[in-house]
Amino acid sequence: MLIALFPGDGIGPEVVTQARRVLDVVCGDALSYEEAPVGGAAYKAEGHPLPPATLDLAKRADAILFGAVGDPDCDALERHLRPEQAILGLRKELTLFANLRPAKLFPELADASALRPEVAKAIDLVIVRETNGDVYFGEKGMRTTPGGRRQGYDVMSYDEDEVARIARVGFETAKARRGKLCSVDKANVLETSQLWRDVVIEMSAEYPEIELSHMYVDNAAMQLVRNPGQFDVIVTGNLFGDILSDQASMCAGSIGMLPSATLDAEQKGLYEPIHGSAPDIAGQGKANPLATILSAAMMLRYSLGKAAEADRIEAAVAKALAAGHRTADLGGSVATAQMGDAVLAAL
Ligand code: NAD
Ligand code: IPM
Ligand code: MN
Repeated sequence: MLIALFPGDGIGPEVVTQARRVLDVVCGDALSYEEAPVGGAAYKAEGHPLPPATLDLAKRADAILFGAVGDPDCDALERHLRPEQAILGLRKELTLFANLRPAKLFPELADASALRPEVAKAIDLVIVRETNGDVYFGEKGMRTTPGGRRQGYDVMSYDEDEVARIARVGFETAKARRGKLCSVDKANVLETSQLWRDVVIEMSAEYPEIELSHMYVDNAAMQLVRNPGQFDVIVTGNLFGDILSDQASMCAGSIGMLPSATLDAEQKGLYEPIHGSAPDIAGQGKANPLATILSAAMMLRYSLGKAAEADRIEAAVAKALAAGHRTADLGGSVATAQMGDAVLAAL
């Protein structure tokens, strides 16, 4: 089975290196790897954040392990050349529309959560985030008004098929878990959200066993901090899911802990930590590699049919944390590679 390795920018290569070490121990020769540049690294080497050979590798591979993209040197480039276009382009070109972002507190990390330990320990949820539509992919631009002012615009739109396919993933995910689905929208203001809510309600007739609720996104942000234990599965749009998942990460201890899978309709997937390239700590060996190591575990489970190997990795992460290893984001001083060592030792 072929894995496309896309380390990207900033801490991306640092954390992907540790995930690769873990995969080598757990899977040995069962997996082969091809690496290609993405993001700012690809722009600097080849003049484009998602070069054709990188996209081709993504299409050929059985799964993609992605670090992060984003480089402050590139912030002044035209938008289509910026590093972030690499991840957006991969999601769109490969129709990776279902981004699963589980947030669960490892009990050893109760002290690292932004919440009181007794509130934090209840967090065990999955955010099912749509990643092919919304304001991300609508028409956008800069124009000048008749009055001569600059005006930026981004069109938010969803069609019913786009909502239905992610709603289905939400219902199915809830069915495989505790049977509770919370659909998060802003239907009190947005037409896209009214359509979202209507489509989710229509589909709920097929899932009488699922306990469905609806919540406005502002309330959902508050409820995540007040009582995250009330959520099982949250299904939401691209922008809301992006924001709520960073927030959920701090409830579960750190942005450096949350993995993700972004799947198409056939379980082909791209696996990446939810965090970015963290330019503020890049090159310093401070990054927490566990989100990427846990993303590799999700890859084994969802795309490669290796659930036992995924279980081994997740158990090793728990063991490394139980042994007291903590990177700086978790309040410790263990370096990126040492955290990798700790997971290998636990394996
Ligand atoms: P970020 O997630 O990169 O960093 C936010 C904060 O969290 C920083 O202080 C950083 O040091 C810390 N952090 C992130 N990951 C960490 C880890 N593994 N261990 C320890 N600390 C960690 O978000 P940002 O600063 O807003 O964005 C930086 C760049 O990354 C931007 O260019 C952004 O567009 C990009 N980005 C890319 C992705 C992606 O590739 N999927 C995701 C998010 C942001
Ligand atoms: C993420 C990131 C991306 C997003 C950016 C880099 C385009 O924040 O993967 O969470 O907004 O989807
Ligand atoms: Mn994000």
